[in-house]
Amino acid sequence: MQHGKIEYKMIFVIAVIVISWSLNSCVAQSRASVPESSVRQTQVITETKKPQGWKIKTASSVYQMAVARDGIVIPVYYGPRGAPLQVSRANVHVSPKVGSLIREVPFRGGFIAQTPSVEVIFPDRTRECDLVYSSSQILEIEGFPCLRIDLGDSAYGLTVSSYIRVIPELDILEKWLVLKNKEKDPILIENAQSGSAWLPADEYDLFHLSGRWGNEFMLQRTRLTPGVKTIQTRAFVAHENPPWFTVTPAKQGSETQGPVWFGGLHWSGNWRFDFEKFPSGNVQIIGGINFWDTAWQLKPAEEFSTPKLVLGFSPEGMSGASARMHNYIRNHVLRKKFRDALRPVLYNSWYATTFNVNEQQQLALARIAREIGVELFVIDDGWFKGRNHDRAGLGDWTVDKKKFPNGLQPLIKKISDLGLDFGIWVEPEMVNPDSDLYRAHPDWVLHYPKRTRHEQRNQLVLNLAGEGVYNYLLESLSTLLRENNIRFIKWDRNRALSDVGWPDAPVPMQREVRIRFINNLYNLIDELQTRFPEVLFESCSGGGGRTDLGIISRMDQVWTSDNTDPADRVMIQYGYSHAFPAKLMVSWVTNADWHKVSPSLKFRFHVCMSGVLGIGTDLTKWSEEERKLAADMIALYKKIRPLVQEGILHRLHSPFEGNRAALQYVSPDGSEAVVFLYNLWETLPGSTRTARASGAVKLTGLDPDANYLLSGDRRGTASGETLMNIGLPWFVRGNFNSAIVTLKKQTQ
Ligand code: DGJ
Repeated sequence: MQHGKIEYKMIFVIAVIVISWSLNSCVAQSRASVPESSVRQTQVITETKKPQGWKIKTASSVYQMAVARDGIVIPVYYGPRGAPLQVSRANVHVSPKVGSLIREVPFRGGFIAQTPSVEVIFPDRTRECDLVYSSSQILEIEGFPCLRIDLGDSAYGLTVSSYIRVIPELDILEKWLVLKNKEKDPILIENAQSGSAWLPADEYDLFHLSGRWGNEFMLQRTRLTPGVKTIQTRAFVAHENPPWFTVTPAKQGSETQGPVWFGGLHWSGNWRFDFEKFPSGNVQIIGGINFWDTAWQLKPAEEFSTPKLVLGFSPEGMSGASARMHNYIRNHVLRKKFRDALRPVLYNSWYATTFNVNEQQQLALARIAREIGVELFVIDDGWFKGRNHDRAGLGDWTVDKKKFPNGLQPLIKKISDLGLDFGIWVEPEMVNPDSDLYRAHPDWVLHYPKRTRHEQRNQLVLNLAGEGVYNYLLESLSTLLRENNIRFIKWDRNRALSDVGWPDAPVPMQREVRIRFINNLYNLIDELQTRFPEVLFESCSGGGGRTDLGIISRMDQVWTSDNTDPADRVMIQYGYSHAFPAKLMVSWVTNADWHKVSPSLKFRFHVCMSGVLGIGTDLTKWSEEERKLAADMIALYKKIRPLVQEGILHRLHSPFEGNRAALQYVSPDGSEAVVFLYNLWETLPGSTRTARASGAVKLTGLDPDANYLLSGDRRGTASGETLMNIGLPWFVRGNFNSAIVTLKKQTQ
């Protein structure tokens, strides 16, 4: 036994070393060869002959794969362009007795060296597969090159197509798999990850975002030591972890320098990322649907497609990774309909009126909102039947006649006449036991017959995987939107999954419930958007609990956190900015003061103006002076909005490293910029790390040879060179004080 183990380990170690260092010249003798005729050569994706395989070149990265001697497609290299690959041909042979251990699509079969991305059970109960190369094609999908590599099982009717769509200028690869059953009986998919990547040997740090309600998007850093680090969600709510990461060499990566690999996932449900560090120093990144308590029965002739995993590379540190991801989201992920539109300044009445809403009071708020420059008025929770508190009403999406005896139409008409768009809050996936819907359909919630139906915020989860729930929601929400001139939906979800049973479904379908739930959620939103194309959507989940590429491709903006304390928001928003752009980041000015530090109204505005500005407080309580300040701030925001929502973000000072934070948004041509400066608390000069580094804030992304006109809270002119090399003096004084400075390039 002992002997066998040692032998296996040695084979494994040798194979890892061989593959890690030598595969560039692997002369593959695959069981099938690349069909030349079907390949359209492009500059981005090319076929290689020695080794037989593929090379994907983006602006700053190279991704290379090869077909090994045993027909297995193997990863060769993923990293910066121009890195010399030391390859020895003598090392490329894969012993057929061992087989390739490091695989592009790692599967459960043979020696399992990596975290697998395909795990299936065939009809005859064979639990392993053997996926070998069969063909490939270079395609174009929505204007971008895409490589499809087809793998087939050597003995069974299973094909796996591995897709890599490339956005070369952003150094972004989208990876996904399509599994097809060519057997006569079902194949059970126990795991199908979207993609895997194999990083060169190094010492790496992983960054990810983690948090909880009121405390979302906290940046975490951890060293990857041998073993597996998993970030995941099983119960959908992702306050703990939006599906995003970066990996960077521990000694090189910084905010502005060094190589950074980054990624995200187009999936809003149960997802996971694994980062497996090997003793060789290599790191495998793998991500997709979390198959914990999940399996999929693939019927004959059917296909299963995984969601897209996004992988990217930045040679310019974390800020380069953020800039690429922001650009990707704005230009490739957001819905085309609203992709280029600036997000409106909104007012939301939740904190002002909670469940106690009526026409007169909402109208009074809307009038003031209009006066100060708001563009969209949103009534939050409380407008629908029986919703006097959070213990009743969810599920009954008809207007509460006691609160609105004439329905919503008169209110909407008056608000529209003011020149404001009207928006409304819904939480379609949940139901209160005290609702007409639940009384009529107690079997429509996720449950097990003999188990407690656990509640959170007095809610149960509707089983959206089921047809009845889907049809009910589609029709009730369609009626709401058809009968009322609603231009904005805030789509909330306030609890995690529990008791994920689906007793009515055939047994093999029961563990498909999480995937079917999300697919139907997407179908529901898509269908509503087809029916009502003018409606803007906001994703919310008890704050920022559902922020991922899957939902962002359907919802046009996101509610960031229920914590609207501006001191906290500086930090929450700073963390958020690593993964998602300001164009989606909704931020309301309220009177929240969780730490009793009394930030001024100006500071509150300045914090919210670095995202999608909203107001969420009782406006009737604002003095004339406060309304005047608000009007001035909103007017300024409208001027800087294109820069904030479309510009390139540079994080100049981190609030996690000192007493101050600074953000800069620059137009892509460097001709305009806006800088946000926040003093969190006043300290002795030079006492904090940031202040010791410099008494000034160095700007970035400007034209060094041009002069800039400074306006806002600092006036004057300065050259781009001065602003970038010497910086703008840190002139903000006092606790929770702030400034906004705009810069405009002067023509000679
Ligand atoms: C949670 C959201 O995050 C809040 O903004 C608000 O919409 C409440 N739900 C309403 O119940």
